[in-house]
Amino acid sequence: MSAARTSEGPWAVIAGASSGTGAAIAVQVARQPGLNVFGMHRGRYLDQAAEVERQVLATGRRMVMMQGDAGTPEGVARGADALLATAGPRSVKLFVHALASASVGQFITGDKQPLHPRQLARTFESMAHSFVYWAQALVARDLLTPSARLLGLTNPLTESLLHNTGAITAAKAALEIYVRHLALELGPLGHRVNLLKFGTVMTPAIRHVCTPEVLERLEEAHRRINPAGRMCTLEEVARIVPTLLGDEAEWFNGATIDFTGGMTLRLLDLVLNEEGGPPAS
Ligand SMILES: NC(=O)c1ccc[n+]([C@@H]2O[C@H](COP(=O)([O-])OP(=O)(O)OC[C@H]3O[C@@H](n4cnc5c(N)ncnc54)[C@H](OP(=O)(O)O)[C@@H]3O)[C@@H](O)[C@H]2O)c1
Repeated sequence: MSAARTSEGPWAVIAGASSGTGAAIAVQVARQPGLNVFGMHRGRYLDQAAEVERQVLATGRRMVMMQGDAGTPEGVARGADALLATAGPRSVKLFVHALASASVGQFITGDKQPLHPRQLARTFESMAHSFVYWAQALVARDLLTPSARLLGLTNPLTESLLHNTGAITAAKAALEIYVRHLALELGPLGHRVNLLKFGTVMTPAIRHVCTPEVLERLEEAHRRINPAGRMCTLEEVARIVPTLLGDEAEWFNGATIDFTGGMTLRLLDLVLNEEGGPPAS
């Protein structure tokens, strides 16, 4: 774990801070509204983790980047203990659950082995249950500031299915229900729990696993399906988060906030009208 002390003030806790959405949000909330950042990751993207640290520290905020599993009860307890030792009680204004660790595959059919019960369990553990573990750990250690915000991240796959992603989509559905129940439980304590839903954004992880041809096809498909005619960016997702921290956003609770840019609105239109234009009257 590395840490640098440059200032005090409220903290953001980002589970999954070394890459993609979590990394972008970590840097953004350090810039505005100026939160210190406690991030966790397992160490697969060490260069990117160092870059996030550098960018957060450049804002003058404190940064603690802890290597460890933020998706199991034991790992969450270790992270929350380290956080308490560093930041102290009532210090966490924002928690973001940005873990991406899941199995893809089908349940029965397809060329590959069907998803194994262990894969289903691990996917649910890291993509859904660990959100609850974090909420429990933060409350048990009295880590939350008044009016703290807990944020899960989701995608539109519960609306329009993508083959191979059944385990992820089911875990996201569970996450949505966890968010609503936690909103009920934490609302009276003054905290807010929400889910931010957005469409595909190009992360280093996606770039790493896709060939240039597949990336081009993805971008072209998103030009067609998104009404804005392009893919959403990581920066756009990160920039919405500070607005969810303000007093004016306090009435969001248990909400699934649609930041998809209308990504699934015209799927039928695209299938039924090959050109994607409006149906002839
Ligand atoms: N990318 C998209 O298009 C998109 C769209 C909508 C919603 N989302 C959601 O946004 C979230 C983040 O996705 P992403 O695409 O930004 O992911 P990503 O680029 O793959 O980054 C995932 C981060 O989580 C860390 N991580 C994964 N499992 C971990 C664990 N058990 N403990 C600690 N750290 C862990 C990774 O580092 P290590 O692997 O080193 O631990 C990395 O820092 C996910 O919930 C995803 O469903 C993504």
